[in-house]
Amino acid sequence: MSGQRLHHLRLGVNIDHVATIRNARGGDHPDPVRAAHAAAAAGADGITAHLREDRRHIRDHDIEQLVSEIGLPLNLEMAATDEMLKIALRHKPHAVCIVPERREEVTTEGGLDAAGQHNHLVPFVARLRDAGIRVSLFINPDRRQLEAASSLGAPVVELHTGAYAHAADSGDAALLDAELARLALGASDGAAFGLEIHAGHGLTFDNVTPVAALPQVFELNIGHFLIGEAIFGGLDSTIKRMRALMDKARAEASGARSA
Ligand code: PXP
Repeated sequence: MSGQRLHHLRLGVNIDHVATIRNARGGDHPDPVRAAHAAAAAGADGITAHLREDRRHIRDHDIEQLVSEIGLPLNLEMAATDEMLKIALRHKPHAVCIVPERREEVTTEGGLDAAGQHNHLVPFVARLRDAGIRVSLFINPDRRQLEAASSLGAPVVELHTGAYAHAADSGDAALLDAELARLALGASDGAAFGLEIHAGHGLTFDNVTPVAALPQVFELNIGHFLIGEAIFGGLDSTIKRMRALMDKARAEASGARSA
């Protein structure tokens, strides 16, 4: 192959569930902004936060503080609604990731239907881009969705790794191979469309390596596992271990490409 070293793989730490724990008691502790500072010190390349319509974890003042106080780029995940667009345009985070959102879901359960919602999404992508915000669309690794993202003019897509993560948990090796192949194809198709490829959802120490080794992937966004694991290992060492696993996967993939 090319023999070139793969580019640095960015780690975006999603701090939503620090806010989940804070909100359980209605006070200020634990503070997601403090977690963002700790993530930065541990080697995160960016901070991700999802402002949901029902404000179940991150709240408006968190976004305000994250934009003004942290030294890392903020990736704001949000639904394509007028309310969220106004908030994004007011705070101007580095990036916005448009996600599908249903009130009753526990987490973001599938990718955005960028193809089916094309006309609805056009003005959102355009207004965010015009404001200098880097727009990404959270989609399943599916050629039709990648094509739609490209035709919408979004520079970035984040591939939903939830089905891959479920396959890894299932113990079904054939299903896992199929889901990984789907991600690999999505990453290469997306890159061929000129999209920058990110990935995330359900990633853990045990399943991150094959995703981190995909050469077209530039960034992983990881939240629930890191915050949960930090209860046992601390945020600093948990993030450092994830960072090390990602770097090792990249180094090995670079070696395999130059062999
Ligand atoms: N990327 C996106 C777009 C998401 O919506 C989420 C969940 O909020 C994540 C990544 C992180 O997923 P997890 O919390 O399962 O690591």
